[in-house]
Amino acid sequence: MKSTLIDLTSRLQAALIAAFGSELAQTDPILVPTQNPKFGDYQANVAMSLAKPLRQKPREIAVQIVEHLDVSGLCEPPEIAGPGFINLKLKTDYLTAQLKTMQKSDRLAVEAVKQPQKVIVDFSSPNIAKEMHVGHLRSTIIGDSLARTLAFLGHDVLRLNHVGDWGTQFGMLITHLRQVCPEALTSSEAVDLGDLVAFYKEAKQRFDQDEAFKAASREAVVELQSGGEEALRAWQILCEQSRREFQKIYDRLNIQITERGESFYNPLLPDVVKDLKSLELLETDQGAEVVFLTGFTNKEGNPQPLIIQKSNGGYNYATTDLAAIRYRIQRDEADRIIYVTDAGQANHFMQIFQVARRAGWLPDTVEVVHVPFGLVQGEDGKKFKTRSGETVRLRDLLDEAVKRARQDVEQRIQAEGRSETPEFIQQVAEKVGIGAVKYADLSQNRTSDYIFSFDKMLALQGNTAPYMLYAYVRVQGISRKGGIDFSQLGTDAPVILADEAEFAIAKHLLQFDETLAAVEQELLPNRLCQYLFELSQKYNQFYDRCDVLQAAEPQRTSRLILCDLTARTLKLGLSLLGIEVLERM
Ligand code: ARG
Repeated sequence: MKSTLIDLTSRLQAALIAAFGSELAQTDPILVPTQNPKFGDYQANVAMSLAKPLRQKPREIAVQIVEHLDVSGLCEPPEIAGPGFINLKLKTDYLTAQLKTMQKSDRLAVEAVKQPQKVIVDFSSPNIAKEMHVGHLRSTIIGDSLARTLAFLGHDVLRLNHVGDWGTQFGMLITHLRQVCPEALTSSEAVDLGDLVAFYKEAKQRFDQDEAFKAASREAVVELQSGGEEALRAWQILCEQSRREFQKIYDRLNIQITERGESFYNPLLPDVVKDLKSLELLETDQGAEVVFLTGFTNKEGNPQPLIIQKSNGGYNYATTDLAAIRYRIQRDEADRIIYVTDAGQANHFMQIFQVARRAGWLPDTVEVVHVPFGLVQGEDGKKFKTRSGETVRLRDLLDEAVKRARQDVEQRIQAEGRSETPEFIQQVAEKVGIGAVKYADLSQNRTSDYIFSFDKMLALQGNTAPYMLYAYVRVQGISRKGGIDFSQLGTDAPVILADEAEFAIAKHLLQFDETLAAVEQELLPNRLCQYLFELSQKYNQFYDRCDVLQAAEPQRTSRLILCDLTARTLKLGLSLLGIEVLERM
């Protein structure tokens, strides 16, 4: 099914070309869905921007566009309003035909992209032996949603976990391990080191206080880098332990991701230096090998250097990212690379992109995007911390969300006088709790900081996961009550739109593919959240105004089709956010 917005836009462009020639045809989106039915369903305000180049009044321009505009299959005759807006109102026949097409398609008639890209989404990417903190949680949730949406649209998506699994911090970790758990290094079985974050803290403390420990740590870094067997074994033990901890979080959040940590690129680092040198991009600055950046200056106003190789021969976070970008383009053949990290890393990525471009590793045909997000704050607007001032462990955060969700379910079940099994309650609590955490994050414009509030995210009212899940459950309730199998609803039965609430849902349903196309471009999952929220609201209005099971045929079946389409859109849309629906809650 052609997207209504895309279809209308191309017709409008054709009219522009026919009226004024191709020089003036605009490629920008020139059509927007309207919120006010007075202005039809879509409004074009292209005439105003053409007034100057054409030296004509906008209204006259609009008249000429409309003369050449063929929207007869889709819209009522276009109307010109105000200074030159063109208002388009969708025909009821068109709406009902599109809905029937959606009904018959198991992907709700969302077309797969014509030119699938190889897309890499670099997300989550926590650091070994360090806390996987709320920033990584944001990256995980946002990255997963983008990956799901792009894959659904037909792209070939590679999800990469750029784990911080290399660096000088391993010197102290290995030294600490050798001293507190030497048996780990000789045992062939997996060893449990307990809480690795506490382990990291102990190691760090000794490193800061004990000169001999510090010296041994430096020694261990050299051993590790030169491939010393025992040091490598210790490194592996630390990575495995961390990996197990990370995996627990991924399982709970239902995240699929391929680990390709920083260490993967180690063998490629010397070539980065060598090739930058032969391209004459590298300069020696205070003993280090650097690239002087354009557009980045230091305090004195001089070009800022990006260190590629330190004076002691070591490499940096940036060196690894240069090796990674090159590998992803040359070996993975990526067309688009998306990096999901906090906004604080924006400069880092701009610098990587610049150097890769100047080195000729990043051609214009490849799009690289940093997808930044803001900070997670506590309800006091300060950094998100526990009451005692510690960083919040993700495991505890998810447990708390599920615990609170369980209290809510238990209360509701009791108030409704229902009796449910403990398994049912547990399952609902888990899905609502996890879904609420994800949705709270995704529904914000990711570029702003966001305030973490269990109360808000678990509320049954408002732009929350429980609200959306509940709308879905409502539809399933109708199917249970009426003994209706939605999948068996007549494909030949007509959709009849009469009530304004029915029109509102119908038009909104048609905008699903436009919304996904917007997410694909802008990489803003909150667009999809907003869409689903409005769909739930429209459904609830319809539910309040229109009888479904009590209605007479053929209206009854038509309304059931609207219910089914709403439920399937909610289910699919939520799944692209990584949220699972419930049949009952
Ligand atoms: N490990 C990094 C961090 O915790 C994030 C890595 C992001 N990806 C990348 N290719 N640099 O901040």
